[in-house]
Amino acid sequence: MAARRILLGVTGGIAAYKSAELVRQLKKAGHEVRVVMTRGAEAFVTPLTFQALSGEPVRTSLLDPEAEAGMGHIELAKWADQVVIAPASADFIARLAQGMADDLLTTVCCATEAPIAVVPAMNQAMWSNGRTQRNIRLLGDDPQIELWGPEQGAQACGDTGPGRMLEPEVILGLVDGGSSGMLAGKRVVITAGPTREPLDPVRYISNHSSGKMGYALASAARKAGARVTLVSGPVALAPPAGVDVRPVITAEDMLREASGAVDEGCDLFIATAAVADYRPQTCAGDKIKKSSEAMLLSLVRNPDTLATIAGRADAPFTVGFAAETSDVANYATEKMQRKKLNMIVANDVSAPGLGFNSENNAVTVFWPGGQESIGPDSKTNIARHLVAMIAEHLGEATH
Ligand code: PMT
Repeated sequence: MAARRILLGVTGGIAAYKSAELVRQLKKAGHEVRVVMTRGAEAFVTPLTFQALSGEPVRTSLLDPEAEAGMGHIELAKWADQVVIAPASADFIARLAQGMADDLLTTVCCATEAPIAVVPAMNQAMWSNGRTQRNIRLLGDDPQIELWGPEQGAQACGDTGPGRMLEPEVILGLVDGGSSGMLAGKRVVITAGPTREPLDPVRYISNHSSGKMGYALASAARKAGARVTLVSGPVALAPPAGVDVRPVITAEDMLREASGAVDEGCDLFIATAAVADYRPQTCAGDKIKKSSEAMLLSLVRNPDTLATIAGRADAPFTVGFAAETSDVANYATEKMQRKKLNMIVANDVSAPGLGFNSENNAVTVFWPGGQESIGPDSKTNIARHLVAMIAEHLGEATH
């Protein structure tokens, strides 16, 4: 990986001690690192620690004439190839979301054209707070900003939940564009979104899938170092950066395109798409007219992309999804066995605000002999967690 100029912003939080290790790992990987600390950060770690580890003076104040005479804040903003804010406190996130420039770090963020990665770390209640989540959504809409984490788990304050900062080695993997990531060198094919099964030139049968879960997984897999092909039904989402997107409409298109992508080489196949199980037996050439009070549609079975790929002699490691409204564990594990899958990710889509066409999800992952639940959490975080879990099982399967 080419050496890069990383501007590390450290804000106030106990996770700031991990940022010292992050500087060490970034330097070891060959990157140049300059550190900017907020006043809050200085309460947890001294600038001297970061100066010793980065080998560069640490900047703490916008209004320091001596420091500005060295590398001024605008030069610092231009110097960076990548800005990483780790840990990013709730307060910093709020100020960044509002575009404020009331200290050195927010000012540099306003002045830089480099991508800004925000790595949150805070108490789980602060993370879940509606105002924090509103600020996170604002950052999510900003094309310059990427959100890395947070993770779920035990917190320094004794609570358990979302809000833990990503570990330094995970942040390093993301800085390196996933080249040292968990799926480095793997070829991954993912299906996403709904299919549309035409009835006539203006009507179709479909479902509420937005594609968000599949797109989040494609993005997470790419960041983990994989070469990703995304076979996508019709959705209103921007293509994830660095992912080869192949648009399809019907279930038959999806099978053809996914099989072609697997033929090109595939280590891991993940099916998040909500494929229509049936399609109209015929598609009328002209718009169907209102003729009688009732109408019967004749439907025929669609091909099953996931079962077809999993049944190949050269089948990749195969992960299915199962959207269920009842008896989730039984239906999901039955699908895993029947379709000969390595893993299945079950969604209980009966819960409001989760699953189809929503920002969040909650899943239970099953594999032969084990299971683990993730969420409720944003689809981005669930995807990151799933990629880590799948990579671990894929690694075991190939050794
Ligand atoms: O797109 P979002 O709005 O983000 O919502 C995400 C989601 C809820 C659609 C997703 O998380 C999910 O659960 N996807 C599976 C949806 C589903 O209906 O699964 P199923 O139980 O019908 O199918 C089981 C598996 O077989 C799935 O992996 C599916 O992609 C695959 N399948 C099914 C039928 C078919 N003809 N071909 C397939 O490949």
